[in-house]
Amino acid sequence: MNWKNLRFLAIGTLAIASITISAFAGDEEAVAGPTLYERMGSSDGITQIVEDLIALHQKNPAISHYFDDVDLDRLTTNVVAFLTAGTGGPANYEGRDMTSTHSEMGLSVADFDSAVADVLTAVKSNVNDDDVVAEVAAILESLRPAVMGTAVTDSAGS
Ligand code: HEM
Repeated sequence: MNWKNLRFLAIGTLAIASITISAFAGDEEAVAGPTLYERMGSSDGITQIVEDLIALHQKNPAISHYFDDVDLDRLTTNVVAFLTAGTGGPANYEGRDMTSTHSEMGLSVADFDSAVADVLTAVKSNVNDDDVVAEVAAILESLRPAVMGTAVTDSAGS
């Protein structure tokens, strides 16, 4: 094979390789796309969001008193793990379940809404993506019955 043919062969091979790579990338995007965890900035992003939301809770006159005697390092670790696991990230949540955690607090609906507003403020200030904010809002809303202790369990429901 002369040099000219070899050059065409090389260009052809490269073209096929790049078509294959872009086809794979396209498939992956169509099938999965980035997780909510990734769209929230992965580990660094979620840690920043949680630090911001705890600072907001502490400044929020409606709910700050709940955090007065709380070990904030432990809270940060557990909320980061909870959010990471719940948004498709690599974490094992080792804290308590939502009902046990909050049942003794006597939370009102207004407390819940106020805490959620802080979370969404923290997300918005770190992630410029309305879809991410809406998805986090939906996850928090889905947790309302568990956090408020009004979730209907199998045994209570039958
Ligand atoms: C969807 C809403 C909520 C979620 C997902 C959530 C999540 C969590 C998580 C994962 C923990 C850590 C549990 C552990 O350390 O074992 C926690 C603890 C705590 N949460 Fe929430 N929470 C929510 C709503 C609220 C609200 C509305 C309040 C009060 C206004 C609140 C106050 C607290 C406090 C004070 C702690 C620390 C408890 C302790 O360490 O003794 N949370 N929460």
